[in-house]
Amino acid sequence: MPQKFYITTAIHYVNDVPHIGHMYENIVADVIARHRRRMGDDVWFLTGTDEHGQRIERSAAKQGILPIELADRVVADHHALWKKLNISYDDFIRTTEARHRIGVHEIIRRMLERNPDDIYLGEFSGWYCPNDETYFTEKEVTDARCPNGHPLERAREQNYFFRLSRYQRLLLDFYKQHPDFVQPQTRFNEVIAFVQAGLKDLSVSRTSITWGIPWPGNADHITYVWLDALTNYISALGFGSSDHEKFDHYWPADVHLIGKDIIRFHAIYWPAFLMSAGVELPKKIIGHGWWLRDNQKISKSVGNIVRPENIIDDFGADAFRYFVLREMVFGQDQNYSDEAFLVRYTADLANDLGNTMSRALKMSESYFGGKTPPTPCQDNDLLRASRGLVPDYLRGMEEYAFQRALENTWRLLVAINGYIVAKEPWKKFKESGADESLSRVIWNSLESLRIVWVMLAPFMPTLTRDALARLGSDPDAIGRNALEWGQLPNNVAIRVGESMFPRADRAAYIGGTMSNPPIETTQAAPPDLAKISIDQFKEIDLRVADIRAAEKVEKSKKLIRLTVFDGENERTLVAGIATRYSPEELVGRKVVIVANLQPAKLMGVESNGMVLAASINGEPSLLSVDASVPAGTKVK
Ligand code: MSP
Repeated sequence: MPQKFYITTAIHYVNDVPHIGHMYENIVADVIARHRRRMGDDVWFLTGTDEHGQRIERSAAKQGILPIELADRVVADHHALWKKLNISYDDFIRTTEARHRIGVHEIIRRMLERNPDDIYLGEFSGWYCPNDETYFTEKEVTDARCPNGHPLERAREQNYFFRLSRYQRLLLDFYKQHPDFVQPQTRFNEVIAFVQAGLKDLSVSRTSITWGIPWPGNADHITYVWLDALTNYISALGFGSSDHEKFDHYWPADVHLIGKDIIRFHAIYWPAFLMSAGVELPKKIIGHGWWLRDNQKISKSVGNIVRPENIIDDFGADAFRYFVLREMVFGQDQNYSDEAFLVRYTADLANDLGNTMSRALKMSESYFGGKTPPTPCQDNDLLRASRGLVPDYLRGMEEYAFQRALENTWRLLVAINGYIVAKEPWKKFKESGADESLSRVIWNSLESLRIVWVMLAPFMPTLTRDALARLGSDPDAIGRNALEWGQLPNNVAIRVGESMFPRADRAAYIGGTMSNPPIETTQAAPPDLAKISIDQFKEIDLRVADIRAAEKVEKSKKLIRLTVFDGENERTLVAGIATRYSPEELVGRKVVIVANLQPAKLMGVESNGMVLAASINGEPSLLSVDASVPAGTKVK
């Protein structure tokens, strides 16, 4: 019997379309869901929208439409975005649906039945802002004005309360018995400290009177917005309805994934509501960090929204998914910039992953006639590397430490690159052709790349299918077994195809280039005319470049046509190095180029710059730089 796994996101407000913070949350949930599914679990993944409350009422009023009209519009945008980002949710709940209303009625009914005095009528007093129609806390008030500068009144009103104070001890006992209830631990510590400091009953202020659900048997028209919102996790499963099979099967949730700003509602109030109603508590709450811009939380109210639609359109959902998971240490905050995306795209995806793929595939194509090599291999460095790294990767995935999981994936990729460089298959081919030893080397490279892509499957689902097909593997073989060495068939067709990560036009996104700071000089010696000045030297634009593609120039013994990436653009160079180097061994290599040379035609091919090489009696030896130096780095 597969293990059931129920994962939920926060339900998003519908006063506006989602921004990067919302996208991030659904991408993380999707990565978890896809991983659990391919490990064999029976997964149920829920997301949705929170459609009650004053935010949406106000937004709708501004636009002169009904709240439900605005909600319908925004929900359509949500669906389109989740489709674009490949979010594989099983269900989408809207709090305006009848099934949700039924669930909310039922939870309140059970609360009143089991603990009739948990909801009681009391008196509420506080600072009320007639302009914003909302109460503000003491902390938010300065000189009897609200943070928006409007004058406040001291107001009292009859109000319904939830007796949260009753649950302090019970919650603390529960936390003690479930030391992994909230992740990360720092956030759990904050939750525990908050509860230990004493819990006040929750009031249902005027602000939370919504166009929703009445408290049964009590007053009309009143519901507590958070009780309403949180109940989505069970109403979506049919809680309170005659069809509660899903609720019986999937509840309690295995993971409620939320942002850290709403941890109190999920880790304190929600468990208290459930205790009051006698419903089992969820197993785990994970509070992720915030995406920031200029160190401020990205949010509609701050007005610093980031919607990286252009990035997603131009580089694909998978590259974006990879970026957000690799860039953010899960649980912590992270600044967003397009520049950071482009750096990762170029370094991790285009260079490390894309180049290694095309290099290994091209060798398989030219040495083994476009098929996977005939000889498998059960004893080699890559097999050992993958057996060492896969368990660490899996631990990372289990512990929701995605950055760590991806780092381990990249370790394997680096090992593959090192292996290819060390084995020099192009030399082997020159010396003894496509023999068994070469077959093993290439098969090992392809097989370990297959494992890399299986590791990446939850992060980049679409590209994984494409990559596995190119490698000659079953594109759907991404389960537990597929992480084991030895699955790539022999003698099946491979496909090199177009580059998986086409070049990034950095200038189109960022604009301009970084200028070098002026160099201070204190020297004033008389000029030696036999030497060049520092200014003359500075006129030469020397840069590190990545070789992305290489092929022999037809009818020439010496010339190789190179496509290199200079940190900003791809360019074609022609280099007289064919007597020493084969095209295959050049791809993926870092070289130093003269970037501002006048173009010249060599054997009919225009060369835009020059690759630097030492010349040993006419035999070239390329200047090399450390693999970690990014393309575009100035050499000076
Ligand atoms: N509707 C409530 C949640 C009710 S759940 C029963 C809500 N909605 S929200 O639209 O404001 O936020 C939805 C989720 O996005 C929350 O988990 C929130 O933490 C997350 N994010 C909103 N802005 C964020 C960032 N800038 N960065 C990362 N996630 C953040 O709260």
